[in-house]
Amino acid sequence: MSKIATLELDGKKYEFPVIVGSENEVGIDINKLRDLSGAITMDPGYKNSGSCTSEITFLDGEEGILRYRGYAIEDLADKADFLEVAFLIIFGELPTKQQLTQFENDIRKYTLVNEEMKNIIDGFPKTAHPMGVLSSLTSALTAFNPKVVNVDNEKEMYEAVCKTMGKFLVIATWTYRKMMGYPLNYYDNTKGYVENFMHLMFALPTGPYSANPVVIDALDKLFILHADHEQNCSTSTVRIVGSSHAGLFASISAGVSALWGPLHGGANQAVLEMLEEIHKNGGDCDKYMAKAKDKDDPFRLMGFGHRVYKNFDPRARIIKKAADEVLQTLGVNDPILDIAKKLEEAALVDDYFVSRKLYPNVDFYSGIIYRALGIPTDMFTVMFAIGRLPGWIAQWKEMRINKEPIGRPRQIYTGHPLRDFKPMNQR
Ligand code: SDX
Repeated sequence: MSKIATLELDGKKYEFPVIVGSENEVGIDINKLRDLSGAITMDPGYKNSGSCTSEITFLDGEEGILRYRGYAIEDLADKADFLEVAFLIIFGELPTKQQLTQFENDIRKYTLVNEEMKNIIDGFPKTAHPMGVLSSLTSALTAFNPKVVNVDNEKEMYEAVCKTMGKFLVIATWTYRKMMGYPLNYYDNTKGYVENFMHLMFALPTGPYSANPVVIDALDKLFILHADHEQNCSTSTVRIVGSSHAGLFASISAGVSALWGPLHGGANQAVLEMLEEIHKNGGDCDKYMAKAKDKDDPFRLMGFGHRVYKNFDPRARIIKKAADEVLQTLGVNDPILDIAKKLEEAALVDDYFVSRKLYPNVDFYSGIIYRALGIPTDMFTVMFAIGRLPGWIAQWKEMRINKEPIGRPRQIYTGHPLRDFKPMNQR
C-alpha cells in the first residue's frame, strides 16, 4: 500500500504520493503541487528538499553513516584503492582485477593534455588561486575535446569518464606548478594514478623523484574519503549545470567553483589558516571558541558543523586516526595537530556546539595531513576536487542517463507591484 501525504490549504485538501527509499528515507512527491494548488514550497538552502533519487551514495546524518553503492566508507578506506572506489562509484560495482587494470590503462590513454592548454595557464598570474585556475582549465578542456558525449552510448560514456579522470588530475597539478614557477609535468604511464599525482606535483627535471609509499597510501585514503557525498553544494551544481545538457567538462568546472567556497570544500584551507592563527596567537583555543559562539562575530570554527551530519562525520574520524599515523610515520611533530585536538575536545563538551550538534567534519583534520605530506595550503581544496571528481562524474552521468528535467527552481516575488515608467526629469 503506497503512502500518501495530505496538505490542506485554504480549506482544500490535496494528496501527494510518498517515495520511500531503499534505506527507508521518506520523500513527499510534490510534482503536481503548483498545478493542483497554485502554491509552491519555500526551502532556502534546500535543507528539506530532495532534488533527485540516486543509487550512488547513502548517508545518514543522525547515525554518522556513509556508504558508496552500499559499501561502508570504513571498509572502502581500509581495503580498497582510489581508482577501485572511483570505478565503483561511477559504474556501480567493485571492479574485478581485470576491469581495474583495464580502467587504469584506459585512463592512461588520455593523460596527455593538449600543449596549447599551456598558453591558457601562462595567462594567469602566479598569485592566482589554484581553484580559479583549475575551474578555468577544466572548462577550457572543452575547446580541445569538443565532441558531445552520447550518454546513452556506453562506450562513449566510458571514454569520457577515462578522459576526465586522466586530464583533470594533470591540470589540477599544473595549478601548483604554475604557482611555484615550475615546468609543467606529464603523467608517467609507468606509475599508478595516485603515485602520478605526487610525480606531477613534485618531480623536477633536475633530478630523479620517487614518492614515499606512506604518502601515496595516505593520499589514496584521503581521495577515497572525498570521492562522493550525495547532493552536496558542488555536486548539486554539477547536476544542475549538466541538466541543461552542458558538457561534462563545463559541469565539472562549475562544480570546482562551488567547491572553492569556504563554507564547502574551501573549509580545509580555512581550517589550517584558523589553526595557524590560533598557534601564532599563543594557542588560546578559548578565545576562538568564544569568537565562534559570538553572534556579532562573523568568525566560525572552520571544519566544524555540517548540513547533514548531526553526529560525527565518519570521514573525520578516519582522517583524525590517519593524521596521527601519518605524522608519526613521517616523524612530523606538528603543534597544529595538538591545537586541533584541543579545539575538538573543548567543542565536544561545550553546550553551544553540543546543542547545535556541531562536530568536526571532513575538512577539520584533512589539511593537517596534506601539510605533513608537503602540500601547500592553497592546494588543499584542489586535493578535495581530485578526490571528489569520481562523484561528480557519477552524479552527472546518473542525472543524464535518468533523463532528468532541466533544473529550474521557482521563487516567491516580494518586489514592487506594477508601476508606471518614470521619465528621467521626474526621478
Ligand atoms: C563540506 O554538504 C556536504 O556534504 C559537504 C561536504 C562534502 O563532502 O561535500 O561534507 C564538505 O562542505 C563540509 C563543511 C565544511 N564547512 C565548514 O567547515 C565551514 C564551517 N561550518 C559551517 O559554516 C556550517 O556548519 C555549514 C555550512 C557546514 C552548515 O551550515 P548549515 O547547515 O546551513 O547550518 P547553519 O549555518 O544554519 O548553522 C546552524 C547553527 C547556527 O547557529 P544559530 O543561528 O542556530 O544560533 O549552528 C551555528 C550557526 O551559527 N554554526 C556554527 C558553525 N556551524 C554552524 N557556529 C560556529 N562555528 C561553526 N562552524
